[in-house]
Amino acid sequence: MNVRDSEHMIAELNAKEPYELTQKLDDADLIIINTCSVREKPVSKLFSEIGVFKKHKKPNAKIGVTGCTASHLGKDIIKRAPAVDFVLGARNISKITKVIEEKHAVEVDIDNDDSNYDFSEYRSNPFKSMVNISMGCDKSCTFCIVPATRGDEVSIPSDLLVTEITKAVNTGAKEVMLLGQNVNNYGKSFSTQDENTNFTALLQKISKIEGLERIRFTSPHPLHMDDAFLEEFASNPKICKQIHVPLQSGSTSLLKSMRRGYSKEWFLNRCEKIRTLCPEATISTDIIVGFPGESDEDFSDTMDVLDKVRFEQLFSFKYSPRPHTPAQDFENQIPNDVAGARLTKLQARHTEILDEVMNAQMGAEHHVYFDELKANGKVSGRSDDGKLFYVEGSEELLGKILKVKVTEVSRGALNGIVCA
Ligand code: 5AD
Ligand code: SF4
Repeated sequence: MNVRDSEHMIAELNAKEPYELTQKLDDADLIIINTCSVREKPVSKLFSEIGVFKKHKKPNAKIGVTGCTASHLGKDIIKRAPAVDFVLGARNISKITKVIEEKHAVEVDIDNDDSNYDFSEYRSNPFKSMVNISMGCDKSCTFCIVPATRGDEVSIPSDLLVTEITKAVNTGAKEVMLLGQNVNNYGKSFSTQDENTNFTALLQKISKIEGLERIRFTSPHPLHMDDAFLEEFASNPKICKQIHVPLQSGSTSLLKSMRRGYSKEWFLNRCEKIRTLCPEATISTDIIVGFPGESDEDFSDTMDVLDKVRFEQLFSFKYSPRPHTPAQDFENQIPNDVAGARLTKLQARHTEILDEVMNAQMGAEHHVYFDELKANGKVSGRSDDGKLFYVEGSEELLGKILKVKVTEVSRGALNGIVCA
């Protein structure tokens, strides 16, 4: 979402101000640091980065801090780092052209503002098209800072989405990535108009766009994975067979204190349904270890879900206490070494699963959508089920979907040759 937010800011600066992108720091008149605050680490990195930029920038170049950390630290960023000229929250990025004109502007409110989905056009890569379908989040997971930084959930009207995706298709994209904190909650609340729709209906509507061949989305919420949605996922040939199902924890009691709204059984039942309806699909997940109160037994439940579902991709994190969240004040915070040991165990088991999954790919054939030219004479792309591929080739491959045979496997990616 931050990558797309950056594209939106670049779009506005290109269209309405005399700015163009540069790769050279000492050439820049404006430096924007677009930040994440989901975990603490990126926040601490921010201030050291500001120091580096301050040292090497042109004397009059402005520095702006945008995104979620801007939302939650607000004017404190300028207090701590006076070299910063403006602070612009994740829900306010449409105001980028306004804040660059004001000294020490701070725009961080999270009320809805429809200008947040009315941007000029810019994509850093015409073949990779991300489209926001909603903003904010209406959940209140006790570990998560996002509702405080991105505000209430608002869906973007479906006709606007169809227009935006059609434009992307007309400039070369065959695939679209639909983005939202909770994509399958789409349609619950619109700001100005009422539309009777949901995510399944949106997928059906978007599938009708001529020239669009593939639809991906991230992230859905396990709670809203009803049968109709999973059946659409399995049966719609334009929907890529890769689905993110964020677990967070395998323990029902921990899920309750995380306020996730589902149990271990519900989660397993949804994954089983996906495997039954669509055996070719890959499932990825997010897991947090060391959430306050996590016992050895709770952690075993998480390991158990990992073994049962055999996620093809895992994003795993040590719990990080965040401001504006209830869990930071929970009793029984888990010592860092215990959380670290659990993370190591979880990742080691997942590596074994991943090795089995990837080794079985040797010689397999996939349809790959090529979307990026690499510096080493390779072109990269993804198979329908989300595996990263590299082949020897040139820009002629970009924007094409071609059959590729796997010739070499590794944990992160597959090398292959384009079939004649
Ligand atoms: N600590 C650790 N991980 C977190 N995530 C969100 N908040 C926290 C936190 N406080 C993880 C969740 C989420 C992903 C984007 O980041 O797993 O799905
Ligand atoms: Fe955060 Fe939960 Fe919303 Fe996801 S669903 S953004 S984890 S509050």
